[in-house]
Amino acid sequence: MTIHIGTPTSRIDGHAKVTGAAKYAGEFGVPGLAYGSVVTSTVAKGRIAGIDMAEALAVEGVIAVLTHQNRPPMASDDRAYSDETAPEDGSPFRPLYDNQIRFSGQPVALVLAEQWETARFAASLLRVEYKTDAHMTDLHRRLDQAKAAGSPPKARGNAEQAFAAAEIRHEGDYYIPTEHHNPMELFASTVIWGGAGKLTVYDKTQGVQNVQRYLCGVFEMKAKDVQVLSPYVGGAFGSGLRPQYQVVLAVLAARALQRSVRLVLTRQQMYALGYRPGTVERLRLGAKSDGALDAITHDAIAITSQYEEFARNDTGWSGALYKCANAKYSHKLAKLDLPTPCDMRAPGAATGVYALECAMDELAVALKIDPLELRIRNYSDRDQNDDLPYTSKQLRECYRQGAEASGWGKRNPEPRSMRDGSELVGWGMATGVWEALQVETAASIVLTANGHAEIGCASADIGTGTYTIMAQVAADMLGLPIDNITVKLGDSTLPQSQVEGGSWTAASVSHAIAGAADAVRKALWRMAEKGPHSPLAGTKLGDVMLADGKIVNKRDPNRAVPIAEAMRHGGVDRIKEKKSTKFSKENPYALRSDDSYARNTHSAVFAEVKIDEQLGVIRVTRVVSAIAAGRILNPKTAGSQIMGGVVWGIGMALHEETLTDHRFGRIMNANIAEYHVPVNADVHDIKVIFVDEPDDVINPLGIKGVGEIGIVGVAAAIANAVHHATGKRIRDLPITLDKLQR
Ligand code: MOS
Repeated sequence: MTIHIGTPTSRIDGHAKVTGAAKYAGEFGVPGLAYGSVVTSTVAKGRIAGIDMAEALAVEGVIAVLTHQNRPPMASDDRAYSDETAPEDGSPFRPLYDNQIRFSGQPVALVLAEQWETARFAASLLRVEYKTDAHMTDLHRRLDQAKAAGSPPKARGNAEQAFAAAEIRHEGDYYIPTEHHNPMELFASTVIWGGAGKLTVYDKTQGVQNVQRYLCGVFEMKAKDVQVLSPYVGGAFGSGLRPQYQVVLAVLAARALQRSVRLVLTRQQMYALGYRPGTVERLRLGAKSDGALDAITHDAIAITSQYEEFARNDTGWSGALYKCANAKYSHKLAKLDLPTPCDMRAPGAATGVYALECAMDELAVALKIDPLELRIRNYSDRDQNDDLPYTSKQLRECYRQGAEASGWGKRNPEPRSMRDGSELVGWGMATGVWEALQVETAASIVLTANGHAEIGCASADIGTGTYTIMAQVAADMLGLPIDNITVKLGDSTLPQSQVEGGSWTAASVSHAIAGAADAVRKALWRMAEKGPHSPLAGTKLGDVMLADGKIVNKRDPNRAVPIAEAMRHGGVDRIKEKKSTKFSKENPYALRSDDSYARNTHSAVFAEVKIDEQLGVIRVTRVVSAIAAGRILNPKTAGSQIMGGVVWGIGMALHEETLTDHRFGRIMNANIAEYHVPVNADVHDIKVIFVDEPDDVINPLGIKGVGEIGIVGVAAAIANAVHHATGKRIRDLPITLDKLQR
């Protein structure tokens, strides 16, 4: 029998995606759709003084213009606008709620028309008058006024004293600018008006049930009257964790018109959704002359909005990753007249570990110790923050295999010492770390007598390969060919799931499916072992497994009952089981939450850059990423996740930066012509290694999940390689050629 778990497997949704059969939120529709176009604020702060809509309304085909003044009712308390991923502190944004302007690009009106082009044209005719107030959007001018927020890990020892006493010290400020997610798919919602107030909402989201609860809150609707679907997502990376404003406006419009509505945001408008907040990271490292770390302080100052405190763990990684007796962290937020930031792939770690891993490289240079050797000398087998053992940690093996694959041993440590023709060559490395999370999730299985199974879970597949791993796990647990498995996800009526985020979905959904499959096995065995002539008569549940479409005695595979026959005995034509990962004794695949262990994934990233000495043009010619992330369900899709993370790390290191003209508080490069992301020409050789990391503590199947771990450390490895190539240390991202030539 084929084993699917661990086997490189092509996406089961791949064919639908490349042929266009897979439909996205903005592609669903019914006859008689109305189309929306959003009008957004041109000022960063103030009030709407007046809206003149006469000209827009006069356009043939325009149905209505909705504003805060004429919209249908919406809830008036913060709780209604909250969602499972909202920041703990603050007052969530309410689109078209009142006349207050909180950021440039805020929606102020929605034009509805019979055709999208008409709506967009009419939107350009709307005259909005503002009464402006003075705004501030520049983090660097608010660093001193930043206030403590979030909850970094507690300090240990006396880091200040240890730093002052250290033989070798390094301190530096590292800056990561604001970055935007830029998923390929535009944010979109299509709301189908079902009559009697019932709505079917196709939404671009990472969590259909999160959006459903949110809409019920905002519009005071009953859960049974709102179904949210998101069968395919064209990238999101965190931008689809919170319900975004277009879903509110589309529902608002459908309720106002009592008609089906589609609303697709423009690329430019998407820059006023969340973003990775620009952050200053202050690192201080103190070490003995042999390289042993003795002091770490890490202080982060990040952007948030005026109305919510978005804080992530930037700093705690520093004291967790390396052995060090004295560590201290702080996280502060500067409130600016901008929208609230939101999670973006490996939030906190992508930024905080960038700073730490550059600082470690600088310390290695000061100590004249090889950067990899410095990390190995400070290797910790325990989580230093909470003093806990890891469920598993094969980072040492990542270092070893990554170094071998990249040829690290051949590196001449001297900066500017390696060349290839007219190009300077640099080799840099860094460590990456992320959490191995798992959340409560439920899944259902309907097994029919013909040996087909339908798996259901309200989770999303944001492009990560969730459909495929769900089918792989189900195929193995049910002993069926993968082609006999149908996967349903991205529908709020399916069994419970949180948003797809935090890299927690693979572990969570796999155990929900495994639990349900085990219940199917039990039900089949009960039917099959009945009767004196059953080949399984007298067996115990523990004696049987599902394989090749049969219930099989593990000790004697010749004693088996086909699924169809078992169901015939039982007088049924299908078996339906549903299980949650919530801990229960009767489910061997339930997830125990055990806080006596640290749960993390790790990586070692090795990068090669080649830099034109005259022009400063940087090419990332080679990256090796060695990952320790427990059992890899599908090396093909998991490998693609890591590759995507590496590409994004190249963007973070060299290209990405959201630029704001602070005079207007307005983003100036809100398009992918001027907001640069890596293109094919920027991406060269990427090698992904998954090291073996058996883990029978973290969960029964040993799954940790990948995705976010792929980006962490990459920008630092590249920045360190740039220093090795040129002798220049650029701490402010992105490392552009002008910075190198200064
Ligand atoms: Mo991820 S930033 O949790 O989508």
